[in-house]
Amino acid sequence: MKTSQKITTVLAATALAVVFLFGQAASAQQAKAKPWPVPDKDKTMKAPTKPDLATGKELWAKHCKSCHGSKGLGDGPKNASLKTFSGDFSTAAFQSATDGELFYRTNKGRDEMPGYEKKIPDANDRWALVAYMRTMKK
Ligand code: HEC
Repeated sequence: MKTSQKITTVLAATALAVVFLFGQAASAQQAKAKPWPVPDKDKTMKAPTKPDLATGKELWAKHCKSCHGSKGLGDGPKNASLKTFSGDFSTAAFQSATDGELFYRTNKGRDEMPGYEKKIPDANDRWALVAYMRTMKK
């Protein structure tokens, strides 16, 4: 190997190491989500008709999976760039929220979590997402 090639290789390896270490540090700094209060009248809301799970699954893949991951473990490809961890939806803590609470949070969003009232205009579709999030329970 020529000296110039060696230098290039060393530089490339150093750059990779820096990117890797920075990535580690960034994920170590990710904050845990703060409690997210929901108004009482919204907490008790329920789906008006039986939600369609297939629709929920399809919309999840399109709108939510990039951050939350396919199973809601918070491991989607965008996770590393989020300041706040999007949560582990398989846990009892997450699943203990009421349907109304999940619906409200999906609708309104907060900080890095987008609100979907306008992006997914049919409320039945957003209820389908709530039903789909229930299938993530472990
Ligand atoms: C850009 C990344 C991103 C996308 C896309 C995204 N979320 Fe989130 N989500 C987050 C983050 C970050 C949080 C934590 C926010 C907080 O607590 O401040 C969160 C929180 C939530 C919560 C509240 C969690 C809890 O503990 O109650 C629900 C419910 C939720 N998301 C549902 C969805 C649904 C449904 C979609 C798709 C329609 C979606 N999210 C798309 C990033 C995202």
